[in-house]
Amino acid sequence: MKRIAVLASGSGSNLQAIMDAIERRDITNAEVAVVISDRKNAYALERARQKSIPVKHQSSKNYQSREDYDRDLVTYLTEQQIDLVVLAGFMRLMTPHFVAAYPNRILNIHPSLLPAFPGAHGVRDALAYGVKVAGCTVHFVDEGMDTGPIILQEAVPVYDSDTEESLQERIHELEHRLYPRAIELWVQDKIKIQGRRCFIDD
Ligand code: GRF
Repeated sequence: MKRIAVLASGSGSNLQAIMDAIERRDITNAEVAVVISDRKNAYALERARQKSIPVKHQSSKNYQSREDYDRDLVTYLTEQQIDLVVLAGFMRLMTPHFVAAYPNRILNIHPSLLPAFPGAHGVRDALAYGVKVAGCTVHFVDEGMDTGPIILQEAVPVYDSDTEESLQERIHELEHRLYPRAIELWVQDKIKIQGRRCFIDD
């Protein structure tokens, strides 16, 4: 049984999709062992509590630097014997120490077709740029901002009538299908990495 830690700062709809996929057995031999947030009021924590999953709030206010924050986080995750770290709207950049502690064992989901529109406002930036196709990306995490090897990526159309909210909603639906699939692939050890390229052994 692989032990997953989900890190989230916000609403946690991706966390919900992951927990639901585990219940449906779309993700097998894995459990969400803990949900961690840097924000006390993140709804993600509430979603975890509703499923009786342990939660941890680790505020950045108590730390001088990102390194100190990540060092404590790694210590905690090691104690918890976590196999896979899943970032689901966690609004912090991971430090080299964190990335080195979990090589190829940290996943992130980003609401754009990377390498286009990295950063905190992927959907807004894509819409403002005027793209006709948007999408989302699941990738391994390295020290960069949304730069690690891409595992899965899928597109959605952008309509003339779209607002940031409507496009966000379409992308979210896609995320909720794509992230559980990527996690299942990781758990089943079906992702082979060569350089920047991930090959799926399906
Ligand atoms: C998602 O759009 C994800 O791509 C981005 O943060 C958002 C998190 O949404 N990294 P939620 O908290 O899972 O609803």
